[in-house]
Amino acid sequence: MRTLPQPGVQSKIFKDASKLSFDFVPEKLVHRERQLEKLWMLFRPLLDSGTSQTAFLIGSVGTGKTALSKRFCLDLVQAAQERKRAVDFIVVNCRQRNTETSVLLRLVSHFDEGYPDRGFSSAEMLSSLRKHLDKRRLHMVIVLDEADVLLKKGAGDLIYHLSRFDEEKVGGRASVSLILVSQKNVLDMLDPASLSTFRRANAITFDKYTTEELKDIIDSRIQLAFFSNVVRGDAVDLMADISSDWGDARFAIELLEKSGMLAEEEGIDAISPEHVRAAKALTYSVVTESRIESLDVQRRLVLLAITRSLKDQAYVTTGEVERSYAVTAEEYGQRARGHTQFWAYMQDISNEGLIDTKVSSDVAGGRTTYISLPDIPTKVLRQKLEEMLKSSQAI
Ligand SMILES: Nc1ncnc2c1ncn2[C@@H]1O[C@H](COP(=O)(O)OP(=O)(O)O)[C@@H](O)[C@H]1O
Ligand SMILES: [Mg+2]
Repeated sequence: MRTLPQPGVQSKIFKDASKLSFDFVPEKLVHRERQLEKLWMLFRPLLDSGTSQTAFLIGSVGTGKTALSKRFCLDLVQAAQERKRAVDFIVVNCRQRNTETSVLLRLVSHFDEGYPDRGFSSAEMLSSLRKHLDKRRLHMVIVLDEADVLLKKGAGDLIYHLSRFDEEKVGGRASVSLILVSQKNVLDMLDPASLSTFRRANAITFDKYTTEELKDIIDSRIQLAFFSNVVRGDAVDLMADISSDWGDARFAIELLEKSGMLAEEEGIDAISPEHVRAAKALTYSVVTESRIESLDVQRRLVLLAITRSLKDQAYVTTGEVERSYAVTAEEYGQRARGHTQFWAYMQDISNEGLIDTKVSSDVAGGRTTYISLPDIPTKVLRQKLEEMLKSSQAI
């Protein structure tokens, strides 16, 4: 589904939708200062004296590894230029290029677009690469993104050769540095011969983002891509909350983009939590009909009460839900159960993964439980529950 505004049609929401695209590399990666600093520290000798380096970036999906390696390489090339050093970089996605030959082809064709895609051995391609680098007196930073895919396919030799690229030249110039990016610890996947050229200390880890960090990432992207005051604060909170289950910034940005597109389709120039829920349902919906079907009438009534009191808000308190439950039960000819039983129902619904809860303390020292519905728009769920409850009444 791609319904970004047509050229020439002025969007009321998106200032610059390209800033949400997959290829966009932000100027600054918030909350990744430590990782960036370590990369600079490792590559300082390249700037100062032209020596090569290896580094590993390790972390789960959406923790900013690819974006950070691109940002770093762009800035490194700039810094090298200021020192009159010729440095260039290539990022190879090893999920797309998962053999030694296809990776080498990508490297060689960076310099020679017409390089034939078959008929040359790995040794010949490595030697072509060397010639190109020597001719230009260039230092190349090679980023092997998703390197674990390559290693699983048995292409460890390539990493070995690239890591020793300059060794056979006596007293020569260092011409290749290597950055391996992976979800798993690739060091454990390397054979002892290649491992000997790598240093464990050069590993940089990327932890999953916390809710607060995701919120900052979303906020920083909103500033680039949206007109001001278009995205409601509670919508941002909900996006951060939802994506914090995985600590995944990609998911957060996808939610942001889809929420914007949904609001635009409706012709509304404000993004509310309801758009976020719909965006999540489009992206990934944990709510299945069978899950709701497994609930009995009382639990369905509680869930219906939640959707009714939520409406387009991100959160409601359990107090509001309990009041709505009393009214809803009566409407369907049921006796509302007492407080303790109500809490047990809420607990069951939460355990089913149908709602999220969070507890916060207030200034007076009391504790309030907030309910949110991350997976499905309240409207959709409400209609579904009303149908189910009506048909069970008819029996
Ligand atoms: N700290 C951050 N600040 C801003 N945007 C970020 C940050 N971390 C990740 N992103 C964005 O989130 C998305 C996923 O990041 P990516 O680098 O592809 O993750 P990974 O390679 O670890 O799977 C990209 O669009 C990226 O620009
Ligand atoms: Mg990546």
